[in-house]
Amino acid sequence: MSDEPLLRVTGLSKYYGSRLGCADVSFELYPGEVLAIVGESGSGKTTLLNCLSTNLEPSSGLAEYRMRDGVWRNLYELSEAERRFLMRTDWGFVHQNPADGLRMTVSAGANVGERLMAVGDRHYGRIRDTAIDWLGRVEIAEDRIDDQPRAFSGGMRQRLQIARNLVTNPRLVFMDEPTGGLDVSVQARLLDLLRSLVSELGLAAIVVTHDLAVARLLSHRMMVMKDGHVIEAGLTDRVLDDPREPYTQLLVSSILQV
Ligand SMILES: Nc1ncnc2c1ncn2[C@@H]1O[C@H](COP(=O)(O)OP(=O)(O)OP(=O)(O)O)[C@@H](O)[C@H]1O
Ligand SMILES: [Mg+2]
Repeated sequence: MSDEPLLRVTGLSKYYGSRLGCADVSFELYPGEVLAIVGESGSGKTTLLNCLSTNLEPSSGLAEYRMRDGVWRNLYELSEAERRFLMRTDWGFVHQNPADGLRMTVSAGANVGERLMAVGDRHYGRIRDTAIDWLGRVEIAEDRIDDQPRAFSGGMRQRLQIARNLVTNPRLVFMDEPTGGLDVSVQARLLDLLRSLVSELGLAAIVVTHDLAVARLLSHRMMVMKDGHVIEAGLTDRVLDDPREPYTQLLVSSILQV
């Protein structure tokens, strides 16, 4: 891991009118580091993730990102064009529902190739070869390249969404319950796949999950949220094996085996 963070978040809060979404969140994320955000329903996980990924504007606070050229930028002061460029290239966003992150009526190959074209690749043969390579890496057979995701199972769609996001070599990937909608056996394989891709590519990731087993398997560090606040944070193994806050203890003990 590099000695300079990729993302620096300071005092981030989001209110929806008078309702609290998340409050006073601060942390740093280093290149190659996976951070899990856990907590019960309504604790503010998605709100925080959407603020970080600039899909939502926070009410106050700062999120600074170290761009590829080394320059630190306040994410909420980027122009719309800069923001879109980041989202298409340096960042990935894996939605819980693959339909939100895929184009359902174009082929699997085009879903992957499109992101390459967005970063300027215009060579059809090379785009197709890269798409085939990525379909293989997420265990989708080459002969499905011309099928639309509509014709895929839930697990295949999620794997396609992952390929689409990782093909541009992003430095940071946001994931909101990436295995949430899948049945248990499919979840386990997908988690394995995600874990090996993340470590192979040296990706930094922020993963929202209510599933502590997902946090255990994927993340180096975790933050526990309750009522919009981060109530405990630390190395994943430390938090899960030796939780300090009563709420975290309750969360951990309510799960049989993590
Ligand atoms: N668009 C919105 N308008 C008003 N309040 C909202 C909106 N989105 C979220 N909230 C509120 O913000 C709080 C945090 O919600 P959020 O969706 O971030 O929780 P979460 O931890 O992602 O929950 P879940 O696990 O159910 O997805 C909740 O009280 C919620 O009702
Ligand atoms: Mg949510």
